[in-house]
Amino acid sequence: MKIARTRGELATVLEKERDAGTPVNLVPTMGALHEGHVSLIRAARSSGFVALSIFVNSLQFGPGEDYRVYPRDEKRDLESAEAEGVAVVFAPSVDDMLGPAPTTTVSVGRLGDTVEGRARPGHFDGVCTIVAILFNLFLPDRAFFGQKDAQQVAVIKKMTTDLGWPVEIVVCPTIREADGLAKSSRNAYLQGEDRERATVLWRALRDGCDALSNGRDLAGVETVMLDAFRSTPGVEPGYARAVNPDTFERPAPGGPVLLVVAATIGGTRLIDNLLVE
Ligand code: PAJ
Repeated sequence: MKIARTRGELATVLEKERDAGTPVNLVPTMGALHEGHVSLIRAARSSGFVALSIFVNSLQFGPGEDYRVYPRDEKRDLESAEAEGVAVVFAPSVDDMLGPAPTTTVSVGRLGDTVEGRARPGHFDGVCTIVAILFNLFLPDRAFFGQKDAQQVAVIKKMTTDLGWPVEIVVCPTIREADGLAKSSRNAYLQGEDRERATVLWRALRDGCDALSNGRDLAGVETVMLDAFRSTPGVEPGYARAVNPDTFERPAPGGPVLLVVAATIGGTRLIDNLLVE
């Protein structure tokens, strides 16, 4: 497994490693790898050369968010990557990734400003900007993302189409703990009872799904999900919405509905979602 630390090193490594005709499969991450990340690597491995990026992207954290304390364990991440058959890891420093004073940003506009984007202003511009840089550096054939971050998927698909990158966006299912909690690097922050409380996100989504199947209207479905949050002590509700999975606007009658929720538990903000076809 090759490790590149700078944009220049990556170019050199990719030139050598890239086999003409073998698709380049990119898995972008912020490290602290868990089974969710590993599922993306395995999906990527099934179809060719796997490149993994590990970069805690300051551009996508707002003021007062957890950029400084975000879990970092590069040694363990590199061991997992190697064990999973990754060919190239790109793990740059902030300076090597972003340069001394970057001013260019990529924004998808309205889609990035709603729901999660409204709760975290500028977050999706930060995600788009870094993913755009990664697409330019790797020129991947395919890039792998988790359904866990459903709005990120919608935003990246839109950016890729709008800017005309010939990259296939592959979306992999959300990997969960046995009790339904979606795996996340931030679950490491959950202490004591908060870990148990965190199952409320999955419960809210299933309640919402049941309500939808029972014919409740979308406002009713959103209320049912919020009620799950309100009735659980120690849970600060964020949002609970039923949206179109591509636009994050109101779903069309009879069309797919994506249930999206966010809540803060013991100071840790968690998100989850469930697609109801
Ligand atoms: P990160 O949170 O490290 O996640 C990297 C990838 O793993 C994302 O595509 C995310 O959706 C996926 N993922 C996380 N938890 C998952 C789970 N439980 N099941 C399946 N997939 C899961 O998302 C980011 O980093 C960043 O925003 C990034 C795209 C790297 C840009 O900085």
